[in-house]
Amino acid sequence: MIVPISQIINKAKKQKYAVGAFNTSNLEITLAIVRAAVAQKSPVIIQTSESAIRYSNLETLFAIMTTLANTVGKKVPIAIHLDHGKDLKLIQECIKIGYNSVHIDASLEKWQKNISLSQKIARVAHAKKIWAQAELGTILGAEGLLKLEMGEIKMEDLMTDPGKAAEFIQKTGVDTLAVSVGTIHGHFKGVEKVDQARLQKIAASVKVPLVLHGGSGLSSQTFKTAIKNGISVINIDTNLRIAFKNSLQKTVNAKMDKIDPRKIMQPSIDAMQKEVEKMIKIFGSSNKA
Ligand code: G3H
Ligand code: 13P
Ligand code: ZN
Repeated sequence: MIVPISQIINKAKKQKYAVGAFNTSNLEITLAIVRAAVAQKSPVIIQTSESAIRYSNLETLFAIMTTLANTVGKKVPIAIHLDHGKDLKLIQECIKIGYNSVHIDASLEKWQKNISLSQKIARVAHAKKIWAQAELGTILGAEGLLKLEMGEIKMEDLMTDPGKAAEFIQKTGVDTLAVSVGTIHGHFKGVEKVDQARLQKIAASVKVPLVLHGGSGLSSQTFKTAIKNGISVINIDTNLRIAFKNSLQKTVNAKMDKIDPRKIMQPSIDAMQKEVEKMIKIFGSSNKA
């Protein structure tokens, strides 16, 4: 059932577990996320990127998420979040339609501009009694990885400065903070490392819950230590994409005679549900509904 995101994240922070924020862009992924939350009796955050919204259309995607949350997921707390919002108009549309939280990602902007944009969105969000997440430091994707490997950029320079986090939160008034502590968007096992000492320093300097992006590819021990060091929300996208694709490939190869899209998609939905349940167990949010 849809609830204010504060209810979900504040409880996680207090009880020292993390809530998974899983990306969706369609009915099948959303079904997998909600069914996993129900099976694990866990709270969950369902999030959409801007490109997911452009793929499925805002009204349609919002209707899928809220309808499934309030029917299939009626016994577990669920919140809807906009992930990596960069388009101010789209962020405001998400706020207007009823999202429970929005991420204003101005992390590529200079310090002052990041503050002013984050502060502006926090004000609009708060007027509708929802939460705003901002980002300090840069979280790379695959394209950035290449630059890292070529030595054009250094991870150290991209990471959140613990000495600036408190001032950033005080000036922007945001409710959660996405931190850059060594993770990368995508699945880069072995390459991604969480700078746990940096995370501890950031957590000690601010009261707001911290969000770990780029969760796919990290080990279960890394997650557990990051949660101990102050992470309350963990973003997962790529793990579900991999589960979806691997299962689909198997199904279509093995059953080429099938033409019913439901029979083709069902194993992929189940595979994604299994992956979400695996993450929920690692994050410690099972039975916290
Ligand atoms: O952090 C980014 C998410 O994985 C969403 O990616 O823009 O391809 O939907 P996307
Ligand atoms: P992964 O794709 O690495 O899981 O990252 C997801 C994410 O951070 C979405 O904001
Ligand atoms: Zn992210």
